[in-house]
Amino acid sequence: MIPQNDALYGIPLSTPKFKTQVLAGCLFDPPHSDNPGMFSQPDLSFLPDSPCYLNGEIGPLREARISVLDRGFIFGDGVYEVVPVYGGRAFRLEHHLARLSRSLDEIRIPNPHDAAGWRTLIEQLVHANAAHQGRAAGDINQFVYLQISRGVAPRDHAMPAGLLPTVFAMVQPLKPVPTAQRVSGVSCVSADDFRWEKAHIKSTSLLGAVLSRQISADVAATETVMFRQGFLSEASSSNVWVVHQGKVLGPPKDHLVLEGIRYGLMAELCQRQGIPFELRRISRAEVLDADELLLSSATKEVLAITTLDGRPVGHGTLAGKPGPVYAQLYEAYQLAKQAS
Ligand code: PDD
Repeated sequence: MIPQNDALYGIPLSTPKFKTQVLAGCLFDPPHSDNPGMFSQPDLSFLPDSPCYLNGEIGPLREARISVLDRGFIFGDGVYEVVPVYGGRAFRLEHHLARLSRSLDEIRIPNPHDAAGWRTLIEQLVHANAAHQGRAAGDINQFVYLQISRGVAPRDHAMPAGLLPTVFAMVQPLKPVPTAQRVSGVSCVSADDFRWEKAHIKSTSLLGAVLSRQISADVAATETVMFRQGFLSEASSSNVWVVHQGKVLGPPKDHLVLEGIRYGLMAELCQRQGIPFELRRISRAEVLDADELLLSSATKEVLAITTLDGRPVGHGTLAGKPGPVYAQLYEAYQLAKQAS
């Protein structure tokens, strides 16, 4: 609980006034060149000025402001979603909203919107961004980033009761995976999975993911494939799939991996294509002996890993090349997008 007799900026912390006053006036501030004080803003003109959503308002992304006492900033105390939007239609939105709801439940933040509310918010933002680009939403692909943090409070690890969550959403262009990567696949490196043991929560506490991703970024590789105690978990921001003798294998949906929205989709696509599909623990030896390795995520869709730790993935003439199961799943994925 927030102490009843405590105050910040002279406003009693327990009152709704605290919440609104700390938030008010810091939602969307135009760059203030007339404010020379220590809290003047750095030059943010390089940031996009596309419309974003913050706590009930839509305004330019580069002018959106939150309090430094937001628990998302102080603790990474929040959750997020990344939803691809093809031609104005959010792909598998109901699955993303269900996962968002599960993540919020796990960290005990009340869901600020029901599914209809989220849908409306996303549609408004998607159309506002398209209009901002002078385009029709139906003509472009975008992705929506949603983030909910526990809200603003004096710093204390314990969860204060009754906080107003901070709700933020932005839309960015969804760039297709470069043709060279589609044709040749991508290089990845492997590393120990040193992240925490609640990887199933889509948490904004992403330092583990950032450090893990940098291991591959440092050697110009696309992803870091992680192993926990000798078993495949996932990549820093993607799920990983192993193709072995015509079968697609994925790690179990437990607390050690984020259940990507493409988990369910891969199962469906495999079923449609008559490809056997199984979730089970996968050893490092099986990964190294894979016929094919695949990544999946909202932005990568499904993508072939053709080199792992400098060694070609696969066997014989297909070694180091995207394989037939990748080709089948990629095509099936495109059909699923068109049908959505
Ligand atoms: N990342 N595993 C991790 C750790 C992830 O961060 C992601 C997604 C996935 C794939 O989930 P999905 O299929 O729902 O995109 C798996 C997103 C794209 C990101 O953080 O930007």
